[in-house]
Amino acid sequence: MSETSAGGMSRREFTKASAFATFAILSARGASAQANADTLRVGLIGCGGRGTGAAINHLTENENVVIVALADAFEDRLKSCRQTITTKEGLKGKADVTDEMCFVGLDAYQKLLATDVQLILHATPPYARPTHIAAAVDAGKHIFTEKPIAVDPTGVRLFIDAANKAKEKNLSFVTGTQRRHQKSYLDTIKKIQDGAVGDILAARSYWCGGLPFSHERKPEWNDLEYRLRNWYNQCWTCGDNIVEQHIHNLDVINWVLGGHPEKVFASGGRAWKPNEERYGDIWDQFSCDYTYPNGVHVMSMSRHWNDSAGGVFEEVTGTKGKSNCRDMGEDDKDPYVQEHIDLVKSIRGEIPYINEGVQTAESTMTSIMGRMSAYTGQELTWEEALNADLDIVPKDLAFEKEYPLGPIPVPGIAGKKAPAEKKERKERKKDA
Ligand SMILES: NC(=O)c1ccc[n+]([C@@H]2O[C@H](COP(=O)([O-])OP(=O)(O)OC[C@H]3O[C@@H](n4cnc5c(N)ncnc54)[C@H](O)[C@@H]3O)[C@@H](O)[C@H]2O)c1
Repeated sequence: MSETSAGGMSRREFTKASAFATFAILSARGASAQANADTLRVGLIGCGGRGTGAAINHLTENENVVIVALADAFEDRLKSCRQTITTKEGLKGKADVTDEMCFVGLDAYQKLLATDVQLILHATPPYARPTHIAAAVDAGKHIFTEKPIAVDPTGVRLFIDAANKAKEKNLSFVTGTQRRHQKSYLDTIKKIQDGAVGDILAARSYWCGGLPFSHERKPEWNDLEYRLRNWYNQCWTCGDNIVEQHIHNLDVINWVLGGHPEKVFASGGRAWKPNEERYGDIWDQFSCDYTYPNGVHVMSMSRHWNDSAGGVFEEVTGTKGKSNCRDMGEDDKDPYVQEHIDLVKSIRGEIPYINEGVQTAESTMTSIMGRMSAYTGQELTWEEALNADLDIVPKDLAFEKEYPLGPIPVPGIAGKKAPAEKKERKERKKDA
């Protein structure tokens, strides 16, 4: 990005000027005594495990930042996060959330976005991400969002538009792919791209892990509350395991290879999970053969089984050797903390502008196209997958409505027209 922004000001001058303008507004409103020209006011949307963790990561080393607002679908999640971040040793004064700045419900994100926070941390499950992030960019907020960024191509496209709009508005944008802020990965991938293993011929990408959480339904939970609290087990809330978890490894592969795949052929299924409501409608294994430019094939495997044989890693093989993408560098700072340091420095103009929105949208789409190929049994190109008319998140969510589980996808049949329907269409075409 160019170092000069609107009005011929440098990025640093522009950022300072905005901060002074914000200070004037805050003073006029009689805001907290902590606010000063450099204090960044932060709001968290999605106050569960990672949201609370991200808030702590954000406050750990950054100075002049204060979390002032929280939003969550459920009060108990918000309360426990508020308790943790306002009492944690070492963070004193960096989380100052009044009752008026706590928002609960499905519209809580809109209420938080209507406040004067300048940066949001977003850690809901991925089904809500595209809508919330698009609204946050419209509201002019800087963004930290967790991965994955969507569960279907419709959501990915909405998110890409939002990320591009953020760039036009000079809003910094970091996306929870913490390996991109981890020194061993940064150093090694630079060396690989400079030729350390020669021309890359092939790669492997694995997330073979144990089972994720699943909850029994509690009698007091209505359908939607149960689906949201048990979000890791429905495709429309989590995107299935290849999207929810394996995105981290596919993101590294896209990073090393410098872009997204051209096509994919995949298979998978559900071998381990019993057919019980708590395990929802997702699969527990995917195997994908991705083709990247220059005919480079990437073998990807993601599974949730009752063991973790196989492990979690990325590996590239070139004409001169192999690398696991972090063996030519040393780690220093915790990458979960480093990504928040980098974000705040970008907002303050102390380092070049960061916007990771499109790259993480592409890594999410890489995972989604693997799922689409496996569910349908068909090879898919990048364009076919990205432009597909697939939109799996129910609209106008409401606690009084029913959200029955979808059927567990049958490989080779899910998402395809039934053969009878196909025949009928052919005949109609013949008659026309
Ligand atoms: N980068 C990483 O390594 C990493 C690690 C863990 C989790 N994550 C990501 O963080 C996200 C959250 O995971 P988690 O483990 O914290 O789950 P969680 O269930 O602990 O937290 C999710 C929170 O979002 C809230 N929520 C759900 N829908 C909402 C809505 N519409 N509006 C407001 N709040 C809503 C829930 O009530 C809950 O408090 C996931 O996308 C996950 O992939 C990333």
